Amino acid sequence: MEKTQIANTSVFTPKLGLGTNKVGGHNLFNNLSDEDGIQVVKTALNQGITLLDTAYVYGLGQSETLIGQVLGNYDRSKIIIATKAAHDVKANLAINNAPNFLTRAVDDALQRLQTDYLDIFYIHFPDETTPKAEAVGALQKLKEAGKIRAIGISNFSLDQVKEANADGYVDIVEDAYSLVERQAEIDLLPYLQANQISFIPYFPLASGLLTGKYKITQEFKKEDWQYGRPNFQNPRYAQILAAIDNIKPIAGKYEATITQILLAWYLQNPAITAVIPGARLASQVLSNAKSVRLKLTREEYQLIDQAFKC
Ligand SMILES: NC(=O)c1ccc[n+]([C@@H]2O[C@H](COP(=O)([O-])OP(=O)(O)OC[C@H]3O[C@@H](n4cnc5c(N)ncnc54)[C@H](OP(=O)(O)O)[C@@H]3O)[C@@H](O)[C@H]2O)c1
Repeated sequence: MEKTQIANTSVFTPKLGLGTNKVGGHNLFNNLSDEDGIQVVKTALNQGITLLDTAYVYGLGQSETLIGQVLGNYDRSKIIIATKAAHDVKANLAINNAPNFLTRAVDDALQRLQTDYLDIFYIHFPDETTPKAEAVGALQKLKEAGKIRAIGISNFSLDQVKEANADGYVDIVEDAYSLVERQAEIDLLPYLQANQISFIPYFPLASGLLTGKYKITQEFKKEDWQYGRPNFQNPRYAQILAAIDNIKPIAGKYEATITQILLAWYLQNPAITAVIPGARLASQVLSNAKSVRLKLTREEYQLIDQAFKC
């Protein structure tokens, strides 16, 4: 699979990765099975999808633990592990960016993942008190000690990214961005490009809405996680489904699924370093893996780009 460099680091990642919040993330999602999660990770690695995006808060260590169990059967040097921390379990999951907290969080993640280095470590969320450059300074020390290879931050506003990058230590940013959530194009992405900082978007499939499996007639009940979410409320919901309808001819031409076509769009987007669609089932990973073989024409890329500007 095509590889891409994380900023100015020695980390080369495949462009298609795997989001693992449904691997062990029982605290975030219902009806998850650890066995399915393990199969999701194994299937990804067997397909050459060797960038795994996890976090402490996905199951309070369970996602990292399951991935750690799988890693033993693979060549560690060929796998890019990205994890995140900031939630303090001893303080009701309050966000903590204190240098000693982050340093301990990295050591704990290394244990759960059964490895001695992380390829990417992100501060998962900014806290309100720690000076951002101080938090990132702690990660720089961990990088110099060989415990992490790339310094990441996630869910930071543009001003917070600038503050965090005061010493030029930030290698990569992970933030919400998708064809239906384009705010980053206006402020964040130009700054990252100008400062040679890599970018990985989360929610690339808008939590499954951009897979083409939702129907206009679908009604969401109060107990459904989609209930009340802006993308799942009309008129926006109907607009997004209409945009998906508009790209069906492209999917037809390539005999591909909507998901594969949209993942191909992210893979060809020059502002995006790698794309990490999540998966609940190994079958989803197998299907999504086929997106790396697709090459959209410039016109098709533009058409998709415009179709979702709703
Ligand atoms: N840094 C952060 O704060 C942050 C926040 C959120 C997420 N993330 C990371 O970003 C990753 C991606 O986000 P996400 O997983 O929440 O959302 P996503 O990638 O937008 O959507 C993934 C979901 O879409 C569905 N799906 C995927 N492939 C499919 C297919 N081929 N056919 C049908 N349905 C399919 C699955 O859900 P169902 O089958 O359940 O519908 C899957 O869990 C996460 O896994 C996580 O690693 C980071």
